[in-house]
Amino acid sequence: MTHETPTSNHGRGAPEERLPGALTSPSFRDFEGKAAIITGAASGIGLALAHALAASGVDLALADIDARGLEAARAQLASTGRRIYTRVLDVARDADVRAAASEFEAQLGKVHLVFNNAGIEMSGALESLSEDDWTRVFGVNVFGVIHGIRHFVPLLLRRHGEPAHIVNTASGAGFWVNRDVSMGSYSATKSCVVALSEALEQELDGSRIGVSVLCPGPVATSIAERSSRSSERLRASIAAGMTPEKVAARVLGAIRDGEFYIFTHAQLQTSLQKRFARIFEALSRLPQ
Ligand SMILES: NC(=O)c1ccc[n+]([C@@H]2O[C@H](COP(=O)([O-])OP(=O)(O)OC[C@H]3O[C@@H](n4cnc5c(N)ncnc54)[C@H](O)[C@@H]3O)[C@@H](O)[C@H]2O)c1
Repeated sequence: MTHETPTSNHGRGAPEERLPGALTSPSFRDFEGKAAIITGAASGIGLALAHALAASGVDLALADIDARGLEAARAQLASTGRRIYTRVLDVARDADVRAAASEFEAQLGKVHLVFNNAGIEMSGALESLSEDDWTRVFGVNVFGVIHGIRHFVPLLLRRHGEPAHIVNTASGAGFWVNRDVSMGSYSATKSCVVALSEALEQELDGSRIGVSVLCPGPVATSIAERSSRSSERLRASIAAGMTPEKVAARVLGAIRDGEFYIFTHAQLQTSLQKRFARIFEALSRLPQ
């Protein structure tokens, strides 16, 4: 396993000094023989990550709320020759994630990679959502990641001193509230995942654990079909999205390169330029 000491300025300084699009430190390069936990692994991006990791020689612990999907994923991955463990859980429940962490550690031994990836879509005007809708979307998308940080990260941090890496799945929607689709609550949850990941990177600075936040644009998965609230516009955009396999390959490459922000769609630049121009304009009106 190489543990690179950067020789040039790739943006690896103290987190607050890093350049835009900055890299996290350290980078994780050697996947062969390592072990990973993936939540939301029964479908879409999580399942594609499982295939890409298994092909790179990684043993897997797969967690999902969908028992049948998880069993199908295990069957698909059986021929890879890697050890594959599965556990049905609800990432929104702290106790489920805590129990999964100890079971996975007992099965895998050392864990090197954690993907806090499970998530759900939520569409609808803010005032139209019920208390249950809010609890569910924050429970899965935000508390799912918080529980993963609380229970999976200690498996990397305290149990062994080997290089490790955590990827939290946010979304481009965590940076940009898209007027064309009514997904404000989803965007709010994904902004939280970006902030949690930035904070985690700061807290782990100086350790051998790298952090990344995955911020995809539309990816062709069944996320919108699972939601009764998705608009036709959202469904069409997701159906025409990037393949999950391409996203997974992008993620593994980004982990190797030590990228903190993992974007998949360059078009996000235009939207973010508009957003930040507005923010900087507001700041520029303040007395200097
Ligand atoms: N598909 C996209 O366009 C897109 C874009 C940006 C971000 N994302 C994010 O990517 C992640 C993966 O989504 P996907 O597109 O692969 O969708 P998907 O629906 O194909 O996969 C999500 C998986 O998470 C599981 N899951 C849902 N709730 C759960 C819970 N409470 N506990 C455990 N597992 C649960 C589902 O059963 C499913 O297997 C999500 O966090 C999503 O928000 C997706």
